[in-house]
Amino acid sequence: MTESSVRVKKNGTAVPEMYRLAKPTVPERRGTGPLKAAVIGAGSMGRNHVRVYTELEGVELVAVADPFEPNRQTVERRFGVPAYADHRQMLEVERPDLVTVAVPSVLHKPVALDVIAAGVNLLIEKPLAITSSDGQEIIDAAIRAGVRLAVGHVERFNPAVTELKRRVEAGDLGPVFMVYSRRHSPFPARITDVGVVLDLATHEVDVLSYLFDSPIASVSAETNRRVHPAHEGMLLGLLRFENGMLGVLDINWVSPVKARELTVTGAHGMYHVNYLTQELSFFENGRYPLGTNGQWEALSNFVGVGEGSVTRVAIHRKEPLKAELESFAAAVREGHEPMVGGPEGLRALQLAEALIEAGRSGGGAIRLINPGEKPA
Ligand SMILES: NC(=O)c1ccc[n+]([C@@H]2O[C@H](COP(=O)([O-])OP(=O)(O)OC[C@H]3O[C@@H](n4cnc5c(N)ncnc54)[C@H](O)[C@@H]3O)[C@@H](O)[C@H]2O)c1
Repeated sequence: MTESSVRVKKNGTAVPEMYRLAKPTVPERRGTGPLKAAVIGAGSMGRNHVRVYTELEGVELVAVADPFEPNRQTVERRFGVPAYADHRQMLEVERPDLVTVAVPSVLHKPVALDVIAAGVNLLIEKPLAITSSDGQEIIDAAIRAGVRLAVGHVERFNPAVTELKRRVEAGDLGPVFMVYSRRHSPFPARITDVGVVLDLATHEVDVLSYLFDSPIASVSAETNRRVHPAHEGMLLGLLRFENGMLGVLDINWVSPVKARELTVTGAHGMYHVNYLTQELSFFENGRYPLGTNGQWEALSNFVGVGEGSVTRVAIHRKEPLKAELESFAAAVREGHEPMVGGPEGLRALQLAEALIEAGRSGGGAIRLINPGEKPA
């Protein structure tokens, strides 16, 4: 990757800002009753939140809000909870302890600010917002109001990802050389407000930020529209991490086949994650290259010279959304920071913006500002 241009985003002040965020000092929630939960936006994702809240111990789903009547009726019928057309009325009447915001991404900011103004803890579905300045506004408002803010980067709660992180940190791979993320889907026509970078790539850049100590230092990208009327539907992105690791993002809405995969390659071998099936496999780098220890030399042309044992790691599978909402409820109940909070959501958004900008400007590398760095 050659850095054809080194730029700092116009709203660059927001980048270092996230590292200066004061931690909100929210008191531990007192009382012994269940936490009252509500969901704003009862569409495709919101209905999953509704279902999971009804399954959580120590949490009671008290209401949903959605202006679209058929979605309200579906939830009312299936879960027997009151459904409001107006989320502000719901907040006033039901006074929930915590709320999921699962409205279209373009509405995250106004709805989140209403929830925060009502003094209610919130989990905003990813992406945090559609611009990093909106994301920063939400974070600042949550801090001022003293409410907990979580962001729905659900792949962090995928048990295969959690186990991969444990193994990377334990040094199983030795030095990591590169990562490759593949996330393909048929085009979801209901998503009209954002492109594939904000919708899908935010999952990947968040996982990569979570897995490695070294931050992503620069990105370059090619994007193309094709399937979406207004936004990009394809992304091929290149990443360079501060420690020299390289990354590839292969993400699109043009494939008929749904794929969500990640490979991490290091000196000792390669891990492969299938997010959908929660499978984690390790492909060991063989100690003896084929052909040098008396084996059939030509085989090395087909299977690679470093082939070793392949191990399927035993994973205790769990629904990631359930783990995410349990973790959010625990943060509210016990008065600590959510595992994925505003700063993490903002970072994913900044990386997505950089990818979009790189794609628009013909693939030139864009340098990110990381902790301890000063804007150029
Ligand atoms: N974490 C994940 O894996 C994941 C997966 C899918 C979607 N999402 C995110 O969830 C959000 C919603 O996506 P979706 O696929 O469910 O969209 P959707 O269009 O299926 O649902 C959105 C719902 O919000 C409702 N709505 C609109 N304005 C509202 C308002 N002011 N108050 C309350 N409800 C309102 C709509 O009527 C609709 O029912 C998006 O931000 C998306 O990125 C996350």
